[in-house]
Amino acid sequence: MGKDTITLTDNRTGKQYEVPVKDGTINAMDLRQIKADPDDFGLMTYDPAFMNTANCRSAITFIDGDKGILRYRGYPIEELAEEKTFLEIAWLLLKGELPSREEYGAWKTDVTHHTMVRENIKRLIDGFQYDAHPMGIFVSTVGALSTFYPEAKHVDDPANRKLQILRLIAKVPTIAAYSYRHRMGLPYVMPDNDLYYTGNFLNMLFKMAELKYAVNPTIERALDILFILHADHEQNCSTTAMRGIGSSRADPYSALAGAAAALYGPLHGGANEAVLHMLKEIGSVSAIPPFVEKVKKGEGRLMGFGHRIYKSYDPRARILKEMAHKVFAITGRNRLLDVALELERIALSDEYFVKRKLYPNVDFYSGLIYQSLKFPVEMFPVLFAIPRTVGWLAQWEEMLVDPDQKIARPRQIYTGYDVRHLPEFEKQETARA
Ligand code: CMC
Repeated sequence: MGKDTITLTDNRTGKQYEVPVKDGTINAMDLRQIKADPDDFGLMTYDPAFMNTANCRSAITFIDGDKGILRYRGYPIEELAEEKTFLEIAWLLLKGELPSREEYGAWKTDVTHHTMVRENIKRLIDGFQYDAHPMGIFVSTVGALSTFYPEAKHVDDPANRKLQILRLIAKVPTIAAYSYRHRMGLPYVMPDNDLYYTGNFLNMLFKMAELKYAVNPTIERALDILFILHADHEQNCSTTAMRGIGSSRADPYSALAGAAAALYGPLHGGANEAVLHMLKEIGSVSAIPPFVEKVKKGEGRLMGFGHRIYKSYDPRARILKEMAHKVFAITGRNRLLDVALELERIALSDEYFVKRKLYPNVDFYSGLIYQSLKFPVEMFPVLFAIPRTVGWLAQWEEMLVDPDQKIARPRQIYTGYDVRHLPEFEKQETARA
């Protein structure tokens, strides 16, 4: 009997099966041989939310949820957030290594020169209701890009993939900024090629009548760090959507629209928006205890708390908590910070949250910072989607070139009727015969 195997006994038949164990997993298809009788389909696993199922092999992002570790391509997130720029991280996630000085220079130039969108994209955005949620505009407009770049459907051509990846990373800030300007009833701002990625994004968002937008370097850097922290997070809900849609060989714009739609939900990237609404609803430190009691009774959740993978402090939340103080030194203290800090203190000492290992996640502090940077709450999920575009694309490409991957197509346990005989249908059949 091999050492790296597991022996399973089927008590229905008394038969034993030796199944290989690789990387701490068994291959689900190895269970198919286990049958109660020769006509049996074979054993399957049931895992509705992928709670214990690896759906890919990936070399991009590593998370140890118990220890609160997050690494991109082997580099600790704390180091990257301290020392690198978001565009360096984008390169790292896509290519596997940090860029050389020359590679970085060329990459920055390439991204900068693809930031513009066609005029009819602006008209498309104009067509949305005046108060349309920017995330709805973002999802639709990213999807619409596939009609502008029909060659994007040749997903098996590496050079073509490279071009679409570049276009998407360059254009998502522009689309995001225009979704905001539309909502505010303001004219769209042209990208400024003199500015770095996040500085230009701020320019497209906030430039008014001045000739040149003056970027505040501290705010630009804060946004860049926020982007670094949100760039990838292995097999989360939206990334799984990206891989799933991409597995049918859909073009990357369509796949990314689907991923962004998955991100929009309040349990995922929409949580930062939900945190702000929650903190506003609580309103003051004295209102926290009754709010926490309601959550414990199952009447709502503490938004920005809990995570499928992290069962300790989310390392991104730790960085953001520190960063909040630096940003507030410039923008003025966000009064909701006191509510957040006290809420965190109470929750972390309450048995309900301790027992369930519910700690603040990335969304708990990011919303407070975004609000202090003058972003309206509705923009928060869009601010998440811009950097996560890089992660989605890196994961999409990894999936496409992985020889183990096929079209995503889970199994089900059928719970409906067996055969139903419809008298009406039978009558029609007889009449036809
Ligand atoms: N507030 C109160 N109770 C909670 C919370 C919360 N935020 N999260 C989980 N629980 C409880 C839940 O009720 C359950 O209790 P019990 O065992 O008594 O039924 C237990 O903890 C386990 O919860 P779960 O729903 O089985 O856990 P999950 O892994 O399926 O859900 C989660 C993970 C992130 C969806 C969930 O923790 C949640 O809804 N959090 C609030 C939303 C949020 O902040 N989302 C952002 C996630 S991080 C960024 C991102 O990925 O986009």
